Amino acid sequence: MPLLERHWLEYSPRFSQHSKRRGLTQRWLFVVDSNAITLQLKDIRKAYNIGLPAETEILHGIDLIIKRGEFVALIGPSGSGKSTLLNLIGLLDKPTSGELFITGQATTQLQDRELTMLRAKSIGFVFQFHNLLPEFTALENVMLPMLAARGRPDEAIGVRAAELIEQVGLTSVGKHMSNNLSGGQQQRVAIARALVMQPALVLADEPTGNLDTQSADTIFDLLRRVNQTSNTSFIIVTHDPRLAKRCDRIIELVDGRIDSDKPNVAES
Ligand SMILES: Nc1ncnc2c1ncn2[C@@H]1O[C@H](COP(=O)(O)OP(=O)(O)OP(=O)(O)O)[C@@H](O)[C@H]1O
Ligand SMILES: [Mg+2]
Repeated sequence: MPLLERHWLEYSPRFSQHSKRRGLTQRWLFVVDSNAITLQLKDIRKAYNIGLPAETEILHGIDLIIKRGEFVALIGPSGSGKSTLLNLIGLLDKPTSGELFITGQATTQLQDRELTMLRAKSIGFVFQFHNLLPEFTALENVMLPMLAARGRPDEAIGVRAAELIEQVGLTSVGKHMSNNLSGGQQQRVAIARALVMQPALVLADEPTGNLDTQSADTIFDLLRRVNQTSNTSFIIVTHDPRLAKRCDRIIELVDGRIDSDKPNVAES
């Protein structure tokens, strides 16, 4: 795989691949490309209550490749492990075994700080409940991930947030407090926030589950448009077969295993 970019990941005295500058040791994060694999899972397993009588394995060896720009629906019965899998992919939780690569970077050996940085750079999240900060405006909510990454406000952050607010059709309410917006508008703010760091992968766990049909369609169309214009990969968990049928590929999870994984012929 050709090397696309590399970034200083963190100052780390432990790493072998190092260069000494100003007395500190730095470590490379490799971001590789090749028309490209955004995500790869190799035999991912997740168990809870390990070593206890209540030990249960929820995910039983998931192998999966998501390529750049794929727009994937993840479906399956309640309790089949969809959210568990999405949390692992989003580096919010760790697998019990297996390896998970995000844009070519193996993740299971990374330290928490490294995971946080990789997550912030490469992954956007949209949840069913948007998790906006109610006492901030729509624009401010979109700026937050950039502020967290850069540490202080600058003009570019405001410009980028305004562009995204426009992209999701909310320019007229950008300065409104987020708790004064409708559910559909709040979810559009959450999408703008998820896109602000230009992630390679957006994970959406039932992003329209809390919305009426019309708002759900608007949100879905928006995700689709972003996918087509930016080549960002999407994994969308949904219980709505109507929406799943509008994705390029449908993966069905049953009892913690991939039961089917098919291109959606109608769409592609
Ligand atoms: N922290 C935990 N400890 C023990 N079991 C858990 C934990 N989190 C999830 N589970 C179990 O893992 C299984 C999968 O849950 P998960 O939330 O991933 O399902 P899901 O497919 O997202 O379901 P839904 O469609 O209802 O959202 C369930 O049986 C759940 O009870
Ligand atoms: Mg779930």
